[in-house]
Amino acid sequence: MKVLSAAAAFLLASTVSAQTLKSAAASKGKYVGTITDPAYINGSDRTYNTIALNEFNYVSAENSMKWDAIEPSNGGFSWNNADTVVNWAQQNNMKIRGHTLVWHSQLPSWVANGSWSKSTLTTVIQNHVRTVMTRYKGKIAQWDVVNEIFDESGGARSSVFSRVFGGLDEFVTIAFNAARAADPSAILCINDYNLDYSGGKATGMVNLVKRLKANGVPIDCIGSQAHLMVGQVSSSFSSTLSSLCSAAGKCAITELDIRAKTPISSSGLSQQQTDYTTAVRACVNLSNCLGVTVWGITDSRSWIPQVFSGEGAALPWDGSYNKKPAYSGIIAGFGGSSGTTQQQTTTRQQTSTTRQQTTTTNGNTGGNCSARWGQCGGQGWSGPTCCSQGTCTFSNGRRQTFASIVVEMTF
Ligand code: XIL
Repeated sequence: MKVLSAAAAFLLASTVSAQTLKSAAASKGKYVGTITDPAYINGSDRTYNTIALNEFNYVSAENSMKWDAIEPSNGGFSWNNADTVVNWAQQNNMKIRGHTLVWHSQLPSWVANGSWSKSTLTTVIQNHVRTVMTRYKGKIAQWDVVNEIFDESGGARSSVFSRVFGGLDEFVTIAFNAARAADPSAILCINDYNLDYSGGKATGMVNLVKRLKANGVPIDCIGSQAHLMVGQVSSSFSSTLSSLCSAAGKCAITELDIRAKTPISSSGLSQQQTDYTTAVRACVNLSNCLGVTVWGITDSRSWIPQVFSGEGAALPWDGSYNKKPAYSGIIAGFGGSSGTTQQQTTTRQQTSTTRQQTTTTNGNTGGNCSARWGQCGGQGWSGPTCCSQGTCTFSNGRRQTFASIVVEMTF
């Protein structure tokens, strides 16, 4: 009897250790993706590459397929970096999310600052979409055809595209029609952030997609970026994802990371594990959610610290490539074993105490305003309610400063 138990324990241990993110995802019929770029593929950091290959089965180019990288001058295409990503993925049997065709950010100035009529900008969009998608026809499974087109209330974000066309419908239609024509087999997505809870932005997305689909525009999927914050994953995350999925027919979590104030505490790590499970499980529970892409591997290469001052630690591996509790959180989200329920309960209580303390420290009673580019408001926000510069506007239930931050960082 004793021998049998030891054997069983050994078997269990080997099963658990053999599990990877991609095997856990596949067991639920989902994919799990990460990001890469030539610097990761060919650079000296081999660990990034090894983990990408061992743990993930889908990949997005972090920057190489953005408009400024791929068509830096009008009709002048620069393929090397995007080709490197596509070839690497194909050689390693990874599927690809193409990111992204039409976006106001990382947009070359010849597009952003051109003086366009509807007709000339239509030609520019069609040429960009057709040329990029045709080159990778049959090689890229999903495309983010348009990215971040909404403002926080669900209206049109101001961009060269929305200004020239006087709203969203026309240029989104042009982009999606060009995309379908270029590669009829690719899944075509509309992608955005702050779709993590019910509210104006998610409603705006649902309404636009339903309206355009009713008019025959070939939108297949809504991508929810899911740049989340530890301890603040909304109770409506799952139902909101479900409504996105229903509106488009398919959905995906496209850029998941869950950031914290750094250094992250041990209770923060534990809460982050729970939050990763919540986010991943929301996709697993929807038959038409395609999969989950995590926006990176290691905290040392995450975009978060450069953009959100004082925040980071958002990914499943720490800066030295040790697996964090978040890793088990993702496995658990995909229905694998996590086995730390008791510990999570205890640390959740600790986290809530810590959060109360933070509120007292950061509260606005002493006139302690959010820094320029800092966050001021958002889902579950308990920090300052005043902002030190015009770029930061307090709005409860919204995260206001994200777009401005990305713009500043990329110029
Ligand atoms: C980020 C990249 O990770 C950074 O390397 C780059 O400097 C800026 O863009 N939403 C998106 C992604 O759609 O393309 C962004 O990626 C993160 C926010």
